Amino acid sequence: MARKKITVVGAGNVGATLVQRLAEKELGDIVVVDIPQMEGMPAGKALDILESGPVYGYDSFVSGTTEYVPTANSDIVIITAGLPRKPGMSRDDLLNTNAGIVKSVTEQVVKYSPKCILIVVSNPLDAMCLVALRTSKFPKNRVMGMAGILDSARMRTFLAQELKVSVENVHAMVLGGHGDTMVPLPRFSTVAGIPVTEFISAEKLERIIQRTRDGGAEIVKLLKTGSAYYAPSASVAEMVEAILKDKKKIVPCAVYLEGEYGIRGVFVGVPAKLGFQGVEEVIQLNLSPVEKAALEKSAEAVKELSEALK
Ligand code: LAC
Repeated sequence: MARKKITVVGAGNVGATLVQRLAEKELGDIVVVDIPQMEGMPAGKALDILESGPVYGYDSFVSGTTEYVPTANSDIVIITAGLPRKPGMSRDDLLNTNAGIVKSVTEQVVKYSPKCILIVVSNPLDAMCLVALRTSKFPKNRVMGMAGILDSARMRTFLAQELKVSVENVHAMVLGGHGDTMVPLPRFSTVAGIPVTEFISAEKLERIIQRTRDGGAEIVKLLKTGSAYYAPSASVAEMVEAILKDKKKIVPCAVYLEGEYGIRGVFVGVPAKLGFQGVEEVIQLNLSPVEKAALEKSAEAVKELSEALK
């Protein structure tokens, strides 16, 4: 069986860290591509990661380029290209700049890898997924966005800290758009299988939920230049692994909805089953009226933004 081929578009912080994580997991051979103005940089980072292989014990072949020909016939392509936020900016402020970038990247990707699965990471995430879907004309199961795992990982971190338990014991479910309206669902978040609502006061939970919503901005503010990349790249690696190993793993991610949860025509974070076919199923949770309203409000915000796409 031939090795899987993975392309990472963008050799910035998210892209390069992702390449390293994918190599360490030995998920396939990896090509990282960036724009011609960056000539040498992706190749340099790729070579550096390749040379970690003997020490770390992986045989994934890693290469970097500023052309799309070497990306041909990738099984999965992850789009990280685009500008990150500056302090004080919302993800939405990046809309039209990043839409142009994601559109041209998607055209290139699809030309050389017409059968790939696309995972979008660029912000504003949900709208960029729509750009990738429309540009690629791929079926919806082959285009998705990474956000829910990241937002849930932040919530898991804060819950584990508060409860002084292993992060491995804590599961969290954050749905909705990857923005201020995201919907952390404490009722579906658990500690060793027990709902967190049994462990933690409503007031403390509310603080954790708000910190989760502000999780990306908290990092942007600390870094001063750029946005988060360690947790985002870890989250993408989990999706790539679920797909390439056909794990049928249920994770929250941005999926194109056509009536599920009463939402239509936008990408929104929902629990989805990931396997060889990409998004193989959308899991429909039985939401309370309050939860459902929050998800609808979030979808509405995503829709508004998506309609502002030029
Ligand atoms: C974040 C950015 C990457 O949430 O959206 O950190």
